[in-house]
Amino acid sequence: MSAAIRSESDLRFPIDLSSGDFAAQKYTHFYPRLLESAPVCSGRISLLKLQLVSRYEDCRLVLSDERFIRDRGRAKGKPSAGPLPFPLPKSVAALAGSMIYADDPEHRRLRNLVNKAFTAQAVSGLEVAVDEWSRGLLEGLSEEGAVDLLPTYARSVPTRVIADMMGLELEDIGHFEQGMRVLSEGLSGVTLLRTLLWDLWRTATFVRGVIARKRRSPGDDILTALIEAEDQGDRLSEDELLAMVFLLMIAGFETTQHLIGNGVRVLLEHPDQVDRMRSEPQLWDSAVEEIVRFRGPVHGTKPQYATEDVEISGDWIERGTPVMPLLGAANMDPRFFEEPEVFDVARSPNHHLGFGFGAHFCLGKQLALMEARVSLRNLFERFPNMALALPSDQLEIVNVPGWHRHRSMPVVLTS
Ligand code: HEM
Repeated sequence: MSAAIRSESDLRFPIDLSSGDFAAQKYTHFYPRLLESAPVCSGRISLLKLQLVSRYEDCRLVLSDERFIRDRGRAKGKPSAGPLPFPLPKSVAALAGSMIYADDPEHRRLRNLVNKAFTAQAVSGLEVAVDEWSRGLLEGLSEEGAVDLLPTYARSVPTRVIADMMGLELEDIGHFEQGMRVLSEGLSGVTLLRTLLWDLWRTATFVRGVIARKRRSPGDDILTALIEAEDQGDRLSEDELLAMVFLLMIAGFETTQHLIGNGVRVLLEHPDQVDRMRSEPQLWDSAVEEIVRFRGPVHGTKPQYATEDVEISGDWIERGTPVMPLLGAANMDPRFFEEPEVFDVARSPNHHLGFGFGAHFCLGKQLALMEARVSLRNLFERFPNMALALPSDQLEIVNVPGWHRHRSMPVVLTS
C-alpha cells in the first residue's frame, strides 16, 4: 500500500456517492483508502443512507449469503416493500418492480422466463450482425477533427442490438433513452419529483403502447416471447412485463455503451497492450474481461438488506440496513488480485465482480462481452492511429452513483 495512504482519516463519512469528488477520484483516492482502512463504512446517495462494503470477499458475501435479501420490507419482518423508501405513484410503480429488486422464488421465476434469449449460443448467433453494424458505423465516422465516440459509436451498437432483440423500431429507442436517462440520473438529484411524476409516467405510458402494438403484431423477438411466455403455466402480468422490458432496455445499452467508452480510453492509455493484441488477436476475449475489471461501467449493485445483524470485517451491519457492495473497489482489492492496478489483457484467472455475483449475476454478460469485443476490435483495426483528442486527465467522469462513465470520449480518427 502506498505511503500516501495513511489512514481513513482523510475520508469524510458518510461517503457521498453522488458527489463529483467521489466520481472523479474513486480510483485514486477513495477505493484504496476504503479497502485499506474502512472496508465497511457509512455512505449516502443523495438522501438515501446506506452501508458500503469494498473488499472482494465481503462483496461476495453480501451478494450470496442468504442473510441478505433485496426486499426492504421483508428484511425487517414487515410486508414486502418497493425499492424506494417512499411510495411511488401507481402508474409508475411497475417500472421499479423488476426482478432486480426481487428475491427467490419470484426472482427465479421471472429470470427463467428470459434466460433463454441470453445464453452463449443465442448470443453467438448475433455476432455476424453486430460485426456488420459496427463496421457500417465506423465507415460513417469523420476522420476530420475530433469525434465523440459515445453517441456516434459506443451507444449506437448496443442500441441497435437491443432494439433488434426486443423487436422494436429504431424510432422507439429515442423514447427509451429519455426514460433511461431520468432513471439513472434523475433519481439521485433535485429533479427527483419531476422524474417520478412526469418522466417515468410518460415512459411507462410509452412502454405500455409498445407492448400493445406487439400483442397485435407479434414477431420473432424477446418481447413477443415474453408476452407469450409460459413457465409451468405461469404468465407475466402486464406490470411484470412492463418492468422486464424496462429492465432489459436499461441494462442492455447504458452499460454496454459505457463499457465500450471506458474501453477506448483504457486501451489508448495502454498502447503496449493494444500492440500485443495485434500479434495475438485471440487476447481480445480476455482483454474485454480485463476492461470490465479495471474500469467497468457498473460500480455498485442494488442494495441488499440484512435480515439479521451480520458481522463483516469486524463491523456489525444491523438488521434492515441497506448495504451496497462497491464492485469497482472489490475489483481493485490487492487481497484478491495480483497487482490490481496493472491493466493486463492476458490476466487469467480473472474472477472480477464487474457483472455482479450471486442470484442477480448479470443476465447479459455474454451479450455485453461479445458486443464490446466486436466493437472495440473493429474500431482499433479500422483506425490503428486513433488518439484521444484531449489529455486523458481532462476527460470528465459523470457523477452518477454506482457507475463509472464518461461525459464524452473525443478522439481523432486516423487510418
Ligand atoms: C458492460 C455491460 C454490463 C455490465 C457491466 C453489467 C453489470 C451488471 C451487474 C453488476 C448486475 C448485478 C446488479 C445487481 O446485483 O444489482 C447486472 C444485472 C443484470 N444485467 Fe447486466 N451488465 C451489463 C450488460 C448487460 C446487458 C447487455 C444486459 C441485457 C440486455 C444485461 C442484463 C442484466 C439484467 C437483466 C440484470 C438483472 C439480473 C437479475 O436481477 O437477476 N446486462 N448487470
